[in-house]
Amino acid sequence: MSHIFLIGFMGAGKTTVARLLADRLNRPCVDVDDIIEASAGRSVRAIFEDEGEVAFRALESEALLSLESAQPSVVACGGGIVLRDENRSVLKRLGCVVYLKVSAGETLARVGADGTRPLLSGPGGVLAATSLLEARETLYAAVADVSVDTVGLSADQVASQIVSVIEGLCA
Ligand code: S3P
Repeated sequence: MSHIFLIGFMGAGKTTVARLLADRLNRPCVDVDDIIEASAGRSVRAIFEDEGEVAFRALESEALLSLESAQPSVVACGGGIVLRDENRSVLKRLGCVVYLKVSAGETLARVGADGTRPLLSGPGGVLAATSLLEARETLYAAVADVSVDTVGLSADQVASQIVSVIEGLCA
């Protein structure tokens, strides 16, 4: 038995869906951003502001690797986890990867203005969402075992779809 990783862009609903899915599958729910915040003792936003994205990405890789010894869980990953080659290999090695697809417009409607996503804050948010998503789509697709389009679906519906598609795929 291995982890079920939820990947995808900011606002795809990974954290909410991970909780629902973990309940249904009777597994622990883990959020990589939470591991980072707990070990760094401050918020993702503060880490970006004080140390920058490169430092954040190093903490993210460490947090992901720490799951090697965790019991099989549903894991919500930060949207940028696919950026490093090493992370993509770890995802593949430690579990089954589910890509939650979302559009840039939907992302902005869901989380664009809440100030918690440093990469989307500021006046360039719309452009940033569109270009970041475009640059990452191939990476998400390359590492995913399965994809689920979340646009127009509730978190509960997304969780149901995942349950039906992972059977036989994620032991
Ligand atoms: C990021 C996504 C965030 C968080 C950080 C960077 C990204 O997580 O890890 O702000 O690069 O896409 P969510 O995808 O859970 O919002």
